[in-house]
Amino acid sequence: MPNVTFTYAGQTKTVQTDAGKTLLQIALDANVPMEHACGGNGFCTTCLCKVKEHGENLSPTNDREQAMGMAGEERLGCQAVANGDVSVEIIG
Ligand code: FES
Repeated sequence: MPNVTFTYAGQTKTVQTDAGKTLLQIALDANVPMEHACGGNGFCTTCLCKVKEHGENLSPTNDREQAMGMAGEERLGCQAVANGDVSVEIIG
């Protein structure tokens, strides 16, 4: 089971979760505040995250993220799926 670590508002929280969920789903299930103004449909960037460690354990950047200009360490929390341990900072 992946361990997903979120850094936000000066706090750090690590959550054990099932593989195959988006960072947004994982955050909301764990009461980690992640904005999602477009309802998780990849249109607003309020869920923006910066990958800190193990970005290779996230799904590849998808078409929605590319359309929103995501590159490098930037990922949309509602589109990036955790398949293993990963650490992200919520910056949206
Ligand atoms: S919730 Fe809007 S882009 Fe992710």
